Amino acid sequence: MITIHNLRKAFGQKQVLNGINLSIKDGETFCVIGKSGCGKSVLLKHVVGLLEGDEGYVEVDGKNVLNFTKDELFALRRRVGYVFQGAALFDSLTVFENVVISQWEHGERDMNSLMKEAQRVLSAVGLLPTSSAEGFTKEWMILRDKKPSDLSGGMRKRVGVARALVGSPDYVFYDEPTTGLDPVTSEQIDQLIAELAQNFKMTSVVITHDMFSVFKIADRVALLDKGVVCFEGDVQQLRESKDTVVVEFLERYV
Ligand SMILES: Nc1ncnc2c1ncn2[C@@H]1O[C@H](COP(=O)(O)OP(=O)(O)O)[C@@H](O)[C@H]1O
Ligand SMILES: [Mg+2]
Repeated sequence: MITIHNLRKAFGQKQVLNGINLSIKDGETFCVIGKSGCGKSVLLKHVVGLLEGDEGYVEVDGKNVLNFTKDELFALRRRVGYVFQGAALFDSLTVFENVVISQWEHGERDMNSLMKEAQRVLSAVGLLPTSSAEGFTKEWMILRDKKPSDLSGGMRKRVGVARALVGSPDYVFYDEPTTGLDPVTSEQIDQLIAELAQNFKMTSVVITHDMFSVFKIADRVALLDKGVVCFEGDVQQLRESKDTVVVEFLERYV
């Protein structure tokens, strides 16, 4: 469980987060919505300790992230898979290298285990057939050496998701996973997010301004506006809300 208490963050004169309170329950798919530039990505970065708030704090499973030791912070980052905004793949690296880059950077050099893990996560995101047999499939041999430029936008996005699944995290954070994709591909990615949440019992936090995604995948939703959470509730409550900020947001984005 992730709880955010009165989190404030300014960059220079600009107050981006102005007292955020939120809780994300284990196993749910939680969507964070709000206008471009309202602080959604900044909020997520505080949860994994990539940014430190000016005030307030984040608790993961009842422990304040600010009090984490270096090792605990490192362990937390391993429990969280992060699908960055944009596909964010390295163009000069292969699919295999892109997927295992963080394990590689942490010193993992066991090629067999890296390849096994890469094949597992690429199967989980539907880029490879699921194989019950030991060893590597011929589809894997072909896919692993491809470069991002050989792949469609939807496939690149799936590789980005596969990278986040390495090491079986408890949480996956998706930052604008469908932005820039066509409607059909967007729907496939939404479907994938929902399937992964169910199959792996993960807690998913999805930043989006795509209301179609929200209505399809969210268990609960928070709407950020002017640095605070102006709505938190389920999809039904979101639809029925009379709050003017919610109503305006839905009119503009649905
Ligand atoms: N590292 C940073 N330094 C200065 N300003 C930043 C930084 N990161 C984000 N911002 C500013 O904070 C605001 C919120 O950004 P962001 O969270 O990325 O918005 P979004 O809701 O679109 O994800 C923006 O005005 C952005 O320019
Ligand atoms: Mg963002």
